[in-house]
Amino acid sequence: MGITLINFAYLFASVLFILGLKGLTHPRTAVRGNTLGALAMLLAVLATLLDQRILSFEYILIGVVVGSLIGVAFAAKIPMTSMPELVAMFNGFGGVASVLVAGAALIAAPAPSHQFTVSTAASGLIGAVTFWGSLVAFFKLMEVLKRLIQFPGQQFFNGLLTLVCIGLGGWLVLEPGQMDVFWIMVCVASLLGVMLVVPIGGADMPVVIAFLNSCSGLAAAATGFVLDNNVLIVAGSLVGASGLILTQIMCKAMNRSLGNVFFGDSGATPTASGASDDEVYAGKIKSTSADEVAMLFDTARRVVIVPGYGMAVAQAQHAVRDLADLLEQRGIEVEYAIHPVAGRMPGHMNVLLAEAEVSYDKLVEMDRINPTFQQTDVALVIGANDVVNPLARDDNSGPIAGMPILDVDKSRTVVVIKRSLSPGFAGIPNPLFAADNSLMFFGSAKEAVLDLVTAVKDS
Ligand code: TAP
Repeated sequence: MGITLINFAYLFASVLFILGLKGLTHPRTAVRGNTLGALAMLLAVLATLLDQRILSFEYILIGVVVGSLIGVAFAAKIPMTSMPELVAMFNGFGGVASVLVAGAALIAAPAPSHQFTVSTAASGLIGAVTFWGSLVAFFKLMEVLKRLIQFPGQQFFNGLLTLVCIGLGGWLVLEPGQMDVFWIMVCVASLLGVMLVVPIGGADMPVVIAFLNSCSGLAAAATGFVLDNNVLIVAGSLVGASGLILTQIMCKAMNRSLGNVFFGDSGATPTASGASDDEVYAGKIKSTSADEVAMLFDTARRVVIVPGYGMAVAQAQHAVRDLADLLEQRGIEVEYAIHPVAGRMPGHMNVLLAEAEVSYDKLVEMDRINPTFQQTDVALVIGANDVVNPLARDDNSGPIAGMPILDVDKSRTVVVIKRSLSPGFAGIPNPLFAADNSLMFFGSAKEAVLDLVTAVKDS
């Protein structure tokens, strides 16, 4: 296949990648966007395989088959709530692939140019940080690594490691024949990857993963320069840029800056601080039943459903949709309030509700739904906790201080479905549960919502 045709295929694949990303910006077009992205990747792989520089196909085919089997098995088996772990691993594999390809290219290069050596060093450095950082993030999310490893002078030590990596990278550019220097740089960068992520708590892990995702893209783009492969440069840059945008969106939703996540001290998996459970809840909790909530719905004109992590764990989305349909049949206006970090991954609630075929128009983002809570008769909170905790607004210390929240407490009545008064991810009590206008409906989300469906039908 001629080089022009290969580059044309790469250009076409790049356009498909961009259209795929555009499709992913809206739930309605997301599936098409995903398909376009997969098609683009297939085209890029096929064009590369047909490239005349490929000498032997056997190992590549074995790799493709083994990789595809692993990918399909993971995609089919992984529960939605473990998606961040999967993404962390995929980022890590992207990073280590960049290191290995760059290393192999360096071994094979007869007379490397400056572009080649600079990109090889960048690929090795960023790829190794990404791999080891992602591995630590993976184990933290799996809760295998629970302890935060912090010591005095940690940031100074990390700064020193960064300087050593850059120094070794510079040495490699000046003396590209020194393979040892490449591998020493990779080892130091691996240590840096571990050291950067070990002091960060689980609460900030999604931001770290989005950032490492961006890094894996940058490593791939650098590898694209190593191999002179245009589509790898474009695809890597797209991953790098979109990962950074996602990082920024998540930081904003959690009221953190990236610097604060990596170098601040408030990223620890939070433990209960401030007021105790007793101080917040004692004598103030009013529990309710399905029949009582059905009576509330009898006189309601507007109901807002607020889903959270508990709805995901209980897989209650189909029951929730049935309830919403029933309420709508009775002339009640129903909308869903979507907080950007509800659940455990970006877009978690959107994905679950889309699976239950809830119309996209009914999913309303935080900024748009917040002003409507004052005109809402019932806010039905289903397994959400931190994202509706007024402490984020009212208390300027603590793990969620300043995080924008859904203002459900401004509704006429708030009904909270959860199993107990246990805290959410941030580990702090929630004064919403003790508010005058709140009623607690204790139970697992799916059973509780199914009970509500029966009670509404009977009312
Ligand atoms: P959380 O604050 O984590 O609260 C979830 C609540 O669900 C818990 O209080 C729990 O209470 C309840 N629950 C668990 N299983 C349940 C079940 N079967 N039925 C009913 N309720 C159940 O959830 P959230 O409000 O969605 O907030 C998300 C939190 O995770 C935020 O702090 C966010 O920063 C953090 N985070 C977000 C992400 C992303 S990107 N979305 C990633 C990682 C962390 P009971 O045990 O009493 O039932």
